[in-house]
Amino acid sequence: MDSLNRHEDYGQVSLEEGQLLDDPIKQFQNWLVDAEKAEIYEPNAFVLGTVDSDNQPRSRTVLLKGVDEKGFFFASNFLSRKGEALELNNKVSGVFGWYSMYRQVLIQGLAEKVDPSESDEYHASRPHDSQVAAWSSKQSSPIESRQALDAQFDEALKRFEGAEVPRPDFWGGYRIVPSRIEFWKGRSNRMHDRIEFYRTLSQDGPHGVWISQRLQP
Ligand SMILES: Cc1cc2nc3c(=O)[nH]c(=O)nc-3n(C[C@H](O)[C@H](O)[C@H](O)COP(=O)(O)O)c2cc1C
Repeated sequence: MDSLNRHEDYGQVSLEEGQLLDDPIKQFQNWLVDAEKAEIYEPNAFVLGTVDSDNQPRSRTVLLKGVDEKGFFFASNFLSRKGEALELNNKVSGVFGWYSMYRQVLIQGLAEKVDPSESDEYHASRPHDSQVAAWSSKQSSPIESRQALDAQFDEALKRFEGAEVPRPDFWGGYRIVPSRIEFWKGRSNRMHDRIEFYRTLSQDGPHGVWISQRLQP
């Protein structure tokens, strides 16, 4: 486990306040494009943190499927562990780790289910077998074996053979409306650059403009 004793130098390239756009969502879009160009594997993957009914945090990776001025869109099963957590507490965090670029973006905000028509649209854009998979998996529920899981999937494939697959009402999109977005850039000697944008956000939406500040590393 050599990696445990390695001391990487994250380099001299700085992140200055003036290099970032005033709108952190537009800035995020630019960094996502940079990550795509750098051919990072699954550049849109991020670690989503939720808090469950026992105040127990839980994190897992999901894929970002849209990002615009309204927020960060991802899709999942509404009855999964994350779905249950979000039902009770919609405060979330997200981590985009583009480590080979010495970059990280942290987000915090409130997750909301998107309009059903938006979930329908996203569902319709997915490959047939992914649509079927959304029906066949009771995400986060235990199952006795891989065989049983495959049988469940085969059954769903048969059910929808040659047919259009409607969106299950227990599956769809969430949007994270951000209140904080932090851009992190690794630097030498652990003197990293951190620029955080924040704004006031309540359950009825964002208020006011984005303010930025530099944080100590
Ligand atoms: C690269 C990657 C992408 C993933 N994308 C999604 C996704 O977009 N939606 C989703 O529900 N799960 C996705 N998963 C699976 C989740 O990490 C997780 O196992 C699943 O959503 C169940 O989480 P939960 O039990 O906390 O609800 C992905 C996993 C990986 C490793």
